[in-house]
Amino acid sequence: MSSNGEAELLHTFKGISFTTRSSPELLKSLDTFDAREDDVLLVSYPKSGTHWLAGVITKLYNTQVTITSPIEFGDISRLEELNKLSSKRIIPTHLDYNMLPPNFKNKKCKMIYISRNPKDTAVSMFHYYRDNPNLPTVDTWTAFFDLFLKGNVVCGSWFDHFLSWEEHENEKNILFLFYEDMKKDLPKVVKKITLFLGLNVSDNDIQDICKKSSFSEMKNDTEKENSDPSHTVCALTSNRKLIFRKGAVGDWKNYFTPKQNIRFQEMFNEKMKLSKM
Ligand code: A3P
Repeated sequence: MSSNGEAELLHTFKGISFTTRSSPELLKSLDTFDAREDDVLLVSYPKSGTHWLAGVITKLYNTQVTITSPIEFGDISRLEELNKLSSKRIIPTHLDYNMLPPNFKNKKCKMIYISRNPKDTAVSMFHYYRDNPNLPTVDTWTAFFDLFLKGNVVCGSWFDHFLSWEEHENEKNILFLFYEDMKKDLPKVVKKITLFLGLNVSDNDIQDICKKSSFSEMKNDTEKENSDPSHTVCALTSNRKLIFRKGAVGDWKNYFTPKQNIRFQEMFNEKMKLSKM
């Protein structure tokens, strides 16, 4: 990774790396952010399928909802803009549970956490680093693999992020989802989401929404710029075209060497020993 790039593009807040697109002033003032009871939070570690889930969720509502940019993105004036929104807010975030504005917790806002096999997440993030001018340059997969394992990437360690949220998995206002389950049986996951959000959506409509949310449909929409090209639910880019790469399960097998796989597994076993995953 080029150290110049890193110095210009990243900064650290409470021990976690953020891009300079998340200003320190904004991060500091998150603690006082005023949540609304009907806010829905869409939470993820980067590259876990956030845009996919956001695409599905926005199609489930027949009332007006606004999917905002991530709460940790921008400068301090952003919070004012969020406060002014009159419609229901669906707010994405990559924040760790401990950094989440306390108001969301106190008001028991609904939160959906989407997770993905960390090996595929790492590969997806590697490509994102390579293609995204807002992130430092990485020269090789080997170099990125080390950074990912150490948690020296934006949003910090995958393990710490996952564990901070998993601790709250059984709270009624939190729904845990997995990218791999969405790949396997999207209608089943969508049904689960509708029940959690208290929405009445027919099975036919669910089928239709799933068709419109396939990887190819979503990628095509972006290429045709049917959706706002400058709006993403990821704090790390505003370029939607960077989001839809391969959309597959198991791509890690094309990148991990046997040695890397062993190192990853050892780290996974150590970090996740108290996890149910
Ligand atoms: P890959 O890089 O492995 O292709 P996020 O939205 O959190 O940034 O996650 C991006 C990842 O989700 C990318 O993974 C992207 O291709 C994948 N993705 C986006 N839409 C998808 C869809 N409709 N179906 C499957 N995967 C999707």
